[in-house]
Amino acid sequence: MKILLERQSAKPLYLQIRDRISRLIKSGALQSGDRLPSIRSLAESLQVNKLTIIEAYQVLEADGVVCARQGSGYFVNSVIPSANLKSTFAPAQNVIIPEQGTSCFFDMYTAGVHAQSQPGMINFSLGFPHPPKDIDLIARRALRQAPDTLFQYDLPQGQLTLRRQIAQMLIQQGMEVSADNLIITNGSEQGLSLAIQHHIQPGDWVIVETPTYFGAIAILEKLRAKIIGIPMSAEGMNLELLEQYLKSHRPKLIYTISTVQNPTGITTTQAHRQQLLRLAEKYECPILEDNAYEGLCFESVPAPIKALDKQDLVTYIGTFSKTLMPGLRVGYMVVTGKHYQAIIEEKLLHDLHTSTISQAIVSEYLASGHLRRYLNQLRAELLQSRNLMLQALEHYFPEEARWTVPNGGLFLWVQLPDNVPTKTIRIEALSQSVLVACSSVFFPDKQGYPAMRLTFCLTPEEIETAISILGKLLKKHLYKASDRISRPQTLAHSI
Ligand SMILES: Cc1ncc(COP(=O)(O)O)c(C=O)c1O
Repeated sequence: MKILLERQSAKPLYLQIRDRISRLIKSGALQSGDRLPSIRSLAESLQVNKLTIIEAYQVLEADGVVCARQGSGYFVNSVIPSANLKSTFAPAQNVIIPEQGTSCFFDMYTAGVHAQSQPGMINFSLGFPHPPKDIDLIARRALRQAPDTLFQYDLPQGQLTLRRQIAQMLIQQGMEVSADNLIITNGSEQGLSLAIQHHIQPGDWVIVETPTYFGAIAILEKLRAKIIGIPMSAEGMNLELLEQYLKSHRPKLIYTISTVQNPTGITTTQAHRQQLLRLAEKYECPILEDNAYEGLCFESVPAPIKALDKQDLVTYIGTFSKTLMPGLRVGYMVVTGKHYQAIIEEKLLHDLHTSTISQAIVSEYLASGHLRRYLNQLRAELLQSRNLMLQALEHYFPEEARWTVPNGGLFLWVQLPDNVPTKTIRIEALSQSVLVACSSVFFPDKQGYPAMRLTFCLTPEEIETAISILGKLLKKHLYKASDRISRPQTLAHSI
């Protein structure tokens, strides 16, 4: 491969190499499936250090244009036409204010976990990235670091080293935080629970996006909060409707997932974030910003809402469940101002502190740079899988279906016509070993509109097989349903 390097240029050599290879791919000189030169041979021919080539290849991988295959080198990814990358998501903008409902979180969560270990089952219902392969090595190293402190009781806010590392990570995202604003939690689920309990009394109004993460709905239901579901549009939560309900109902909390929202995968713009914060300030309503998927973005995203917060209105929640391993149960909260002390006192009552061993493992991943490298690879794989799923949807799904095109995370959201019997389709898909989450669980009234959340964190074969099964079922029912003259609306929403 011929690459002319400008050694006097201010542009680092690895970026010059990245740009040249990107151009070769765009021009078609390098095609999908082609193998890039080995690191050693390219380093020799360009007379640069091998690390320069490794860095160039890692950036290409993070850009999603190449992927590493264990033991075989780097290969050009398949590219899909950009027309397929347009979101067609456009749901009706209905506000949902449910009666007090019963939670379906337990059933939904346990079914997803059981399905994970069932051979042959293609599980769309929960998203689990595969864990990094070097966990043994990192865990052993972590345990060797400071055994005397690892095996003792710890502070409720968690280990200082890890809090400092997370603060550093968040500063790079534009937040002004220090270790003293951080609380390490047992996954972000505990962070949600602590923040919601801190801000909400039974009977208080709370704003959520619809659809939204069912684990947060369940906490609100348990606390007997009164939920107002503000619809998601393609740009994020509908801010006009939000303002109306802030004015009329004076809620005590707004729960938002600003980046790669679960389940839609939508990331809001800087302007949307600023406007949301302005409204929260105007109506003195705290925000709970859940950024569980932040580390899985395929491209750079605006700084979190918390980065704009000057009045301690925003509580920020993050987790290593999606970027490392859910089994470690390490999440974190950024809490500023007077709320910090109250929340660590509450955390102490829940479980004293998060496992010191889990904290040490995460800390070692961050210190060694292994997490950064693993994430580059994971994001590239997920981008590839997302593109494959978009292709499969285009190919197999009825043209009436609309879907989002997430710029990260594990899921996309398919909006279906009103007359699609999603419950029946779900049962029929299960009989063909495809498990789909009920869309109803993402709505506080357990109805919402017919839709499917699909994880693309699966193998290419699983994506192709499962999307073709679902596509056939959808077409069968959709075209059968549209033949009928009238159909009761309640049936269409009955999942
Ligand atoms: C938006 C969101 N928040 C929080 C969580 C809880 O994750 P964990 O407790 O594993 O950090 C999840 C899990 O799927 C999620 O999707």
